[in-house]
Amino acid sequence: MAREAPADATVIGVPVASDGAVPRERGEVDRATLEASGFAGKVGQTLLLPRVDGPTIIEIGVGPVADLDEAAIRDAAAAFARAAVKHERLAIDLTGAGSELDARVVGRAVVEGVLLARYRYRAFIDKADEAHLTHLTLITARDHARAAAAGAAYGEVTARAVNTARDLCNTPATHLTARRLGKLARTLGEETGLEVEVFDEKELEALGCGGLLGVNAGSAEPPRMIKLTYTPDTKRPRGRLHLVGKGIMYDSGGISLKPSDALHAAMKLDMSGAAAILGAMTTLRELGCRTEVTGWLMCTDNMPSGTATRLGDVLTIHGGKTVEVINADAEGRLVMADALVLASEAEPDAVVTVATLTGAALRTFGPAMAAMMADRRDLAAQLQAAGDATDERVWELPFIRRYRRSLDSAIADIKNMGGENAGTITAGLFLQDFTGGVPFGHLDICGPMMTDTDDAWRSVGATAFATRLLSRFAIDFRPPAA
Ligand code: BES
Ligand code: ZN
Ligand code: ZN
Repeated sequence: MAREAPADATVIGVPVASDGAVPRERGEVDRATLEASGFAGKVGQTLLLPRVDGPTIIEIGVGPVADLDEAAIRDAAAAFARAAVKHERLAIDLTGAGSELDARVVGRAVVEGVLLARYRYRAFIDKADEAHLTHLTLITARDHARAAAAGAAYGEVTARAVNTARDLCNTPATHLTARRLGKLARTLGEETGLEVEVFDEKELEALGCGGLLGVNAGSAEPPRMIKLTYTPDTKRPRGRLHLVGKGIMYDSGGISLKPSDALHAAMKLDMSGAAAILGAMTTLRELGCRTEVTGWLMCTDNMPSGTATRLGDVLTIHGGKTVEVINADAEGRLVMADALVLASEAEPDAVVTVATLTGAALRTFGPAMAAMMADRRDLAAQLQAAGDATDERVWELPFIRRYRRSLDSAIADIKNMGGENAGTITAGLFLQDFTGGVPFGHLDICGPMMTDTDDAWRSVGATAFATRLLSRFAIDFRPPAA
């Protein structure tokens, strides 16, 4: 935070709207010259103005003044960070376009946009010539400095959480096993004020978690259930929320083996729901969340072998309900069923599942949106609001109760796959069977879990979608009315 650009910044970003005045204080050019260079000020557009005697200026398009909002600023900041990819010390001048917006919101959006766009997964390649972002200075008017700084601090917390979750998702399955995730969760929990309990296979057996154990049966690696607890520093918490994450470290499809195409080569990302919950929960103490939050991360890989669960087998979920497995690739709902029953036993105000659950959600919405379901209107509204606020967009699908019949089994309480249609909805209906009537929300994040190319603040690879959404949702949570 500063009122002037620091002397060692090698690049200064200057937001320019597509209408209205053009800032000229740093020797920038006029609108006609910008337009002649093909720069119209649209969100995502940038124009580099090199100078012989000072830092490079990057004009950053932020679109029409009337449409300026948090998402536009985040996108514009991300475009700036990418245009400045060769630079390590960045400054951005927020005294012009957008200065009429809440400075706290602007500070947060700028920091999120820049830090998320500069993310790279570099555990296995050394790009020696790559510049690393070391400094980011926000230049503001004096009376906005305090609010902008608060927003920037918030954005640093959320962006760090997202990038941590992205690292977990991008890590190949052989390098990130359920056991290792358990250890990392302990460390992260210690650093961020969470209680962490890790349940091993013996403890899972004692608890009767037949869903998680059944999916793990074909694996050489043991499963882990990771329970995270956030207790706010307040005598009267605003409510009690449980989050359940699908933590399939690698989904081969099990006995129902997947083909070896590009999509299925991305199945190390099948723990994205668990990663998003872990990431989100690391933000709660620093952001002053007043809701009590419990996270259940259900972790194992799903492998075929001589010991794997066979089709037609019946698993007993924690609490005693039985499931006939007719497709070993519909494993996410099996591992989450155990956690849903455990969560419902605590009688929280709501439970929300987060999972890369169905290819059907990807087919329906593509990468831009997650499918959301909720069996209380107020809960749906809260999930929708958190998604809109963070630009992690969700779209609601209905619980069509009469499709529940497609999950009827002749030999067990339920089977793990419905018919060929409405796969996202029948998966939601399956999960709902284990909630014991606790208000239930569900995010199927299969579509937006990854991006093939850099796209605004989404950097290539895992997006850790829902990390910021869940953080906001928990912070703003109130027990659903109906
Ligand atoms: N992990 C997959 C879903 C998935 C597919 C995630 C593509 C990301 C990209 C899930 O376990 C799965 O295989 N679901 C099946 C369910 C079916 C067997 C009922 C699917 O969607 O085909
Ligand atoms: Zn899966
Ligand atoms: Zn699967």
